[in-house]
Amino acid sequence: PQAHLTLDPSFRIAPVNRRLFGSFVEHMGRCVYTGIYEPGHPAADDHGFRTDVLELTRELGVSVVRYPGGNFVSGYRWEDGVGPDRPTRLDLAWRQIETNAFGLNEFMTWTRAAGVEPMMAVNLGTRGIQEACDLLEYANHPSGTHWSDLRVKHGVTDPYGIRLWCLGNEMDGPWQIGHKTAHEYGRLANETAKAMRLVDPGIELVLCGSSNSGMPTFGAWEATVLEHAYDAVDYLSLHNYYEENGDLPGFLCSAVDMDRYITAIVATADHIGAKLRRKKKINLSFDEWNVWNQSRFTGRERSPFQEAPELIEDTFTAADAVVVGDFLITLLRHADRVSIACQAQLANIIAPIRTEPGGPAWRQTIFHPFALTARHARGTVLRVEPSGPLLETGRYGEAPALSAVATVDGSRVALFAVNRSPDQDLDLTARLPAPVRPVSATVIAAGDDPHRVEALPEPLAVQADGDRLTARLPAAAWTMILADCENLRDQH
Ligand code: AHR
Repeated sequence: PQAHLTLDPSFRIAPVNRRLFGSFVEHMGRCVYTGIYEPGHPAADDHGFRTDVLELTRELGVSVVRYPGGNFVSGYRWEDGVGPDRPTRLDLAWRQIETNAFGLNEFMTWTRAAGVEPMMAVNLGTRGIQEACDLLEYANHPSGTHWSDLRVKHGVTDPYGIRLWCLGNEMDGPWQIGHKTAHEYGRLANETAKAMRLVDPGIELVLCGSSNSGMPTFGAWEATVLEHAYDAVDYLSLHNYYEENGDLPGFLCSAVDMDRYITAIVATADHIGAKLRRKKKINLSFDEWNVWNQSRFTGRERSPFQEAPELIEDTFTAADAVVVGDFLITLLRHADRVSIACQAQLANIIAPIRTEPGGPAWRQTIFHPFALTARHARGTVLRVEPSGPLLETGRYGEAPALSAVATVDGSRVALFAVNRSPDQDLDLTARLPAPVRPVSATVIAAGDDPHRVEALPEPLAVQADGDRLTARLPAAAWTMILADCENLRDQH
């Protein structure tokens, strides 16, 4: 089958926002302990940070990292993780023993080593306005007050100036410690946001949306919490995880659901904005997304409390990498409204980076589309209006076989495409406004040996004919084509 797209610099969506290449570090399983932090490991630095994981984090191109949860944050006392006394506590979310050896100051030192922006979450499960303000005062107030002076006493003279703050986590979920109704949460989030802004007016605040698009309160939750907190917040969160579950054709179309989810939440946010007669737009923070074989996860209800248990350490396939590539295409396609996105999580927990305690760290398949997109998506995101065959899926109904987006930076064009068809190649023609020269192409196909994804498969043949690029996009594959189009700048 044939597929077409048009690449024109005037079809601008938005500038490429680096915050779309975020990740997430939760005190869950081995993400922190023996993931990013393992004192005594041969690769550990003076802080106990695994330098092998730090190097992979930089290679991944991660921009912002959300912390410390996740479900964990809804029972967390942040004070336990600062200063010399670190009480050992029960973490009820994941039935863990939390030693608190790693806390806010360790995380902030780690973010600087990794070159990433922190995105903190406050506990709105078991705690409220006061503790959120105390934490913000400790982190961002210069000095001369109880909490800021305590930070100074802990050896951190300058305030951190953390800008991004999440108002709790998945507060719509019955599993959440301190789960709330939309009204209860909307009120609390609004009052917490107002008070936090009094401590530091420079912060950006994320309101909890639904835990996923299948929640019974999906849509209604967003409308209600926004009615309460529209003026006080900047972003609304989205979370979703996808899995193959024996249905590869449907799984390859997972990004169709992500796309519809984003579209629905943008409409909901704008509806509330219109109803409240506000000019301000609420943008989205897709701060948990990934592939997660959730049906294989049995939960922890009956497990003993344990320190750094092995939790959801999924081993990813090449098909998972293709779907992750498509999620990134989808996030870029919505770059005008999705301002932040965090792949969950960074290390060991359904992660691009895996580690062995005391042993090596390695890249999983899903590392590669992330790292390549983060590196090559530069400049401006362009709408490319792909056309081609439709696929029939049991999960999502009709879905376009071709998913694509492009970015342009000077004369450099990066085209990201997924052929979602499980068995049919697509003959792609891309039309540009000026003569084009292909530079390179990279393919990850669902059928690849997951171990070979590490080395990246053979390059794809791309032909140029004047202002046209043609290529055969293999079935069930993610493809990235880099090209130069000298006159593109003038066309702009
Ligand atoms: O990322 C794993 C968990 O998934 C997070 O703790 C929670 O927010 C979500 O349900």
